[in-house]
Amino acid sequence: MDRHCLMIPGPTPVPVRAALAGAAPMINHRGPEFGALLREVTEGLQRILMTRNTVLLFPAAGTGGMEAVAANLVAPGERVLVAVAGEFGARFAEIMRVAGADVRTLDFEWGTAVEPAAVARALEEDPSIGMVVVTHNETSTGVTMDLAGIRRAIPRDDVLLVADAISSVGAIELRPDEWGVDVVVGASQKGLMTPPGLALVALSPRAWEKAGRTRCRSVYWDFAAARRFLEQPTPQTPYTPAVSLLYALRESLRMLQAEGLENVFRRHAVLARAVRAGVRALGLGTLAGEDCASSTVTAVVLPDGLEGKKLLGLLRQKYGVVLAGGQGRLAGRIFRVGHVGRVNWQDVVVTLAALEMACRDLGLEVEHGRAVAAAEEVLGAEG
Ligand SMILES: Cc1ncc(COP(=O)(O)O)c(C=O)c1O
Repeated sequence: MDRHCLMIPGPTPVPVRAALAGAAPMINHRGPEFGALLREVTEGLQRILMTRNTVLLFPAAGTGGMEAVAANLVAPGERVLVAVAGEFGARFAEIMRVAGADVRTLDFEWGTAVEPAAVARALEEDPSIGMVVVTHNETSTGVTMDLAGIRRAIPRDDVLLVADAISSVGAIELRPDEWGVDVVVGASQKGLMTPPGLALVALSPRAWEKAGRTRCRSVYWDFAAARRFLEQPTPQTPYTPAVSLLYALRESLRMLQAEGLENVFRRHAVLARAVRAGVRALGLGTLAGEDCASSTVTAVVLPDGLEGKKLLGLLRQKYGVVLAGGQGRLAGRIFRVGHVGRVNWQDVVVTLAALEMACRDLGLEVEHGRAVAAAEEVLGAEG
């Protein structure tokens, strides 16, 4: 099959405009042209993130951005509360542990949201906690957390709120300044419609203050150095930047800006609702409840007798639709549909039609056209 429909929660399809921009000739990363590129990209990211906070960029996977937070903001032995409601929350807890933090995890059933009241209780029980880490959009379960509610539940202003927003940046509303989120970690390969390879970190004044009081245990990830270079008259990065990815990201940011942020968020929300309606019309269940279901990824529970690997293999080989499996303890129990980045209704309709046919191939009793019809109802109602 020469074409496929990539519907995983990242990396996501890169718009042709962005891919071509990434092929531009190399430039001097210490020259004025690069300075203008870096300035436009960081200012564009500030707009997408609705923040005045400095946004730092590193050549890395998103996990690198998470490690950078640990290296700059946590001293060995410091008490950190990590809310774990899926694989990526568990990863952040592990990163904090490896960095020497005294980690307390607050565990929630996978497929449910972090409860602000539970965060409040944990902080009341333990006044030594100075940082709360939350996965804004838990990609392994398809759940979006109420970051604003979590901040409101935190009883002390000096507690830093850190959000892994890797699968929400550029797709789901996130207002760090308004909501009081001190640290946002993102990555290029999902909502930002850019190839993998860029991690971003946005830090509030409160987070910078903490960084100033903490000895950074990394040369590469040093936030203060990155900010110093960024704030030079000709913006730069301390080490060689991923120039081609920045070209691509600049183009994708221009596209998001032209569409309008509210429209981008709405598009994701509507497509997600259409996916959920389609999936349910097939008689399948979603892992997340409607109140916390993610706009960028839907986790679908595999019914008895339907083997995930078989289903995804058939979808890929026969129908050219690529979906993702479950992770960690959800492996073999769910599959995931990504609807993030450069997605539109066509992708959703094709995905649901293919899913329906593959389910029939595997013996599920499904009426032709049910899933697409249910999705059409959602899409039609939204105009
Ligand atoms: C919520 C979340 N956090 C962290 C990561 C890790 O990102 P990366 O694979 O770029 O390191 C991902 C990737 O899917 C994610 O969705």
